[in-house]
Amino acid sequence: MPTFTLNGQPTTLDLPPDMPLLWALRDVAGLTGTKFGCGIGACGACTVHVDGQMARSCITPLSAVEGKRVVTIERIDQDPVGRRVQAAWRELDVVQCGYCQSGQVMAATALLKSTPNPDDAAIDNAMSGNLCRCGTYQRIRAAVKVAASSIARPTKGA
Ligand code: FES
Ligand code: FES
Repeated sequence: MPTFTLNGQPTTLDLPPDMPLLWALRDVAGLTGTKFGCGIGACGACTVHVDGQMARSCITPLSAVEGKRVVTIERIDQDPVGRRVQAAWRELDVVQCGYCQSGQVMAATALLKSTPNPDDAAIDNAMSGNLCRCGTYQRIRAAVKVAASSIARPTKGA
């Protein structure tokens, strides 16, 4: 019976430990912002944070998050970096169909938490596992830069 912190709440789920975290999030916890794409860790649509690190929830068994902190797109606005990323996404109107975008935001937030001022190569490297069938890559890269410069220049209430 895996026990972990889900979006800041202590959570115990009566589920098999080998169940993928993605199924628990979407089908049991009702957190449908995290998307199913490939199911094999190859597209990034299911990206969440586990103890602050990016993780592909489709290939992460519940046993792997025992005692850890899981954060999903539904609460990334509670993270100061996540808030800046979401604001940059809105400012540059990054989203097209939207399906990949929760994973993109989670990946960009993880990148900027570890590397606050990434260059193009670092952005491309960090985001390369997050596919977008709509081809929003140019806007994603630009939005990561907008978020990075916004983090470097804090404003009131941010
Ligand atoms: S659904 Fe998890 S990486 Fe594609
Ligand atoms: S915005 Fe449509 S798949 Fe990325």
